[in-house]
Amino acid sequence: MSLILLRALLLWLASGICFATALSGSYLLPSNESFHGLLNLTHKNSTIQEAERLIAAAVEQQSIYNAFRVANPRRNNYRHDPKPNSSKLRRDSYDGPAPPSLNETVLAAAALIAEVDALSQLANGTYNNDTRLASQILETLTPSDHGKRHAEADGYWLPELSGDGLPPMGYDSSYPVLRVVTDAKYGAKGDGVTDDTKAINAAIADGNNCGKNCLSSSVKGTLIYFPPGTYLISSPINAYYYSQLVGDANNRPTIKTSPRFIGLGAIQTDVYNPGASGDEWYIEQSVFYRQVRNFIIDIRDTRTGSVAGLHWQVAQATSLTNVAVIASRDTSSRNKQMGMFTENGSGGFMSDVTLSGGAYGIYGGNQQYTVRDFIIDGQTKACINLIWDWGWTWSRLTLSNAPVGISLINPEQTTGQVAGSTYVMDSRFIGISTGIYAEFNKTVLDSSIITLDNIGAENVNRMIGFSDGSHLDIPADSVDFVVVGDVAVTI
Ligand SMILES: *[C@@H]1O[C@H](CO)[C@@H](O)[C@H](O)[C@H]1NC(C)=O
Ligand SMILES: *[C@@H]1O[C@H](CO)[C@@H](O)[C@H](O)[C@H]1NC(C)=O
Ligand SMILES: *[C@@H]1O[C@H](CO)[C@@H](O)[C@H](O)[C@H]1NC(C)=O
Ligand SMILES: *[C@@H]1O[C@H](CO)[C@@H](O)[C@H](O)[C@H]1NC(C)=O
Ligand SMILES: *[C@@H]1O[C@H](CO)[C@@H](O)[C@H](O)[C@H]1NC(C)=O
Ligand SMILES: *[C@@H]1O[C@H](CO)[C@@H](O)[C@H](O)[C@H]1NC(C)=O
Ligand SMILES: *[C@@H]1O[C@H](CO)[C@@H](O)[C@H](O)[C@H]1NC(C)=O
Ligand SMILES: *[C@@H]1O[C@H](CO)[C@@H](O)[C@H](O)[C@H]1NC(C)=O
Ligand SMILES: *[C@@H]1O[C@H](CO)[C@@H](O)[C@H](O)[C@H]1NC(C)=O
Repeated sequence: MSLILLRALLLWLASGICFATALSGSYLLPSNESFHGLLNLTHKNSTIQEAERLIAAAVEQQSIYNAFRVANPRRNNYRHDPKPNSSKLRRDSYDGPAPPSLNETVLAAAALIAEVDALSQLANGTYNNDTRLASQILETLTPSDHGKRHAEADGYWLPELSGDGLPPMGYDSSYPVLRVVTDAKYGAKGDGVTDDTKAINAAIADGNNCGKNCLSSSVKGTLIYFPPGTYLISSPINAYYYSQLVGDANNRPTIKTSPRFIGLGAIQTDVYNPGASGDEWYIEQSVFYRQVRNFIIDIRDTRTGSVAGLHWQVAQATSLTNVAVIASRDTSSRNKQMGMFTENGSGGFMSDVTLSGGAYGIYGGNQQYTVRDFIIDGQTKACINLIWDWGWTWSRLTLSNAPVGISLINPEQTTGQVAGSTYVMDSRFIGISTGIYAEFNKTVLDSSIITLDNIGAENVNRMIGFSDGSHLDIPADSVDFVVVGDVAVTI
């Protein structure tokens, strides 16, 4: 390991200790006495039985849909297309399955079942309220110095806002810019056993915010605040145009998906319309202006197939910061969870994110992304699976305890698409069999460039390997600088 890298890592480690202590956490649970009054768990009345039937069908349909989406993600292609007719832009030809309809009946049934499940878990002692995993990973690996700000702050300023701010444009003095999800007007409880999906989505949608059929508008910005707590959800939280979802920075709220959650991602930035059209609310290259920060997203309990913490299909002026996704640690092939599923979109920034467990930490592509301070640990397939990109800059990654650090899919498959420029700097691979695994033979594609800049590695078998078993002859303990492209140059 080079001296510079070692020094950088030491600084990095030393600075992280404060960060970790600020993040330990667990859910606040109601006492047995208070929940026993809520539901008679020994008697599932006809409403519950009917809801279970509806939800079983929806979960099955959603699992099929999610698997199809993940196998056929949206992505750009490098072929030149004549300028599309804009009225047709949102209409892709599509012969895949349809997602279940989330009408009022299904949403109410999902919420009821989420509460029944949560109370049953409490009663039988299987309710998992331990979110320490996220902070334990930070303690043992590489927290970021950036996080010190949170730990040292006396209190978080956001809850002190008066809430009487006005939108600067749009001439609507009644428009609520700041919404607190637990306000009586919306009614989220954050108690871990009440389904808060409807309340949270109502807070986001309030005042005719820019959602379905709006397409795009930057007239009325919106800030949705989540106080500390555990928010049980049974279907996705919809992140609207020009809207920020913000949790308490000192005591991050947990978004917990129910066992029978119906959706692709706990938080979704674009929404597939029900029916088999493949249409979404927003055009994928104009999913602008949304920020998500300060959350723990816990999808461990969800049994619906191929679920992600975030369906993050974003474009410019978007960011994701200080978020942890805790996915299942099941090591069997049943585990198809993903920290983030990011299909196409066209550029964004992400930092200070911990992704724990699942099959993949990140499964996705985007035209351009910039990423800093990610810890991705304990995936069964790969920490990161790149399905396409034009350019992706990765700074200060820690990828650990998975067979593959970064996997590049085979662009020659019918569903394949080239990963363009992948620049990884100041990063560590720990307990990874192959650092970067290209699912194609050792032919260097002129549109795929991999740069490794100041990389540390521990317990890594090889840095860059190919599907025919060949690998590049570069050290698997540390790398100062390597570019792999049309020509390979090692300094
Ligand atoms: C069944 O139980 C649920 C939950 O306690 C309740 O909301 C619902 O009204 C009950 N339905 C009937 C038909 O008793
Ligand atoms: C729960 O329902 C069962 C079956 O209907 C009934 O025997 C029992 O008394 C109920 N318990 C409570 C606390 O209401
Ligand atoms: C997103 O994917 C769709 C369909 O796969 C494609 O037509 C479109 O050009 C892509 N857009 C971007 C911005 O990548
Ligand atoms: C675009 O598509 C619409 C609807 O199919 C059609 O009416 C219109 O003539 C098309 N415009 C062009 C320039 O092709
Ligand atoms: C809602 O969707 C369910 C499942 O597809 C269906 O059975 C039900 O009739 C729908 N309800 C309404 C009011 O559309
Ligand atoms: C506890 O309750 C949950 C929710 O109903 C159920 O899925 C789980 O199997 C139960 N576990 C045990 C050990 O009874
Ligand atoms: C509630 O009681 C059950 C047994 O009666 C116990 O197993 C469970 O741990 C208790 N839950 C809490 C949150 O105290
Ligand atoms: C989980 O909740 C129980 C009951 O409220 C509490 O005693 C326990 O300490 C919590 N677990 C953690 C890890 O904080
Ligand atoms: C990749 O290598 C394998 C094994 O050497 C060979 O069978 C296959 O034809 C090669 N594929 C391509 C696209 O070169």
